[in-house]
Amino acid sequence: MFRLGILISGRGSNMLALADAVVEGRIPNAEIAVVISDHEDAPGLERAMERGIEAVAIERRGRTREEHEREIIAQLKSRAVDLVCLAGYMRLLSPCFIEAFRNRILNIHPSLLPAFPGLEAQRQAIEHGVKFSGCTVHFVDEMLDGGPIIVQRVVPVLDTDTPDALSARILVEEHKAYAEAVALVASGEFEIEGRRVRLRPA
Ligand code: GRF
Repeated sequence: MFRLGILISGRGSNMLALADAVVEGRIPNAEIAVVISDHEDAPGLERAMERGIEAVAIERRGRTREEHEREIIAQLKSRAVDLVCLAGYMRLLSPCFIEAFRNRILNIHPSLLPAFPGLEAQRQAIEHGVKFSGCTVHFVDEMLDGGPIIVQRVVPVLDTDTPDALSARILVEEHKAYAEAVALVASGEFEIEGRRVRLRPA
């Protein structure tokens, strides 16, 4: 079994979309080993538990980033996690975390990277006036929202869009994109060459 560890900070809709994809067999031979939040009041924790998924809070408050990450890494390793999925996890990972799971951490970002990295990507897209935006699932490296891209999905930006309206349209695609990307990585049928993630030729 390919074991997923999912890190969240909030509502956890992408985490739930991954859980659905596992149950429905869209991510074959995989299971969610643990969901970890950096706040105990993240609504996603309860959603995970309702589904019988082990969910733990590892509070950041009162600790250095290093201490906090060391505990998260220990929890992931103790459950033999193969792939770490950031799903609305609102903290930057330090190089030591990235090294501990090199090419085994994914993130989802609500824009077509490399456009609009960082916070409020949907607002950035509207203010820039782009006509299309979307979402990106990528490997995490030391650059903010910068690692090799696995899957992107596109949505139109409408003249009437508010950040909330665009976010809702993108979120529908995020849920599909994340499951597709995790299924590809779990299958092992890809190669990374420079920045390019490609299907392994048959
Ligand atoms: C998503 O828009 C994701 O792209 C971004 O944070 C949001 C998390 O939403 N990184 P959810 O907690 O998965 O519902």
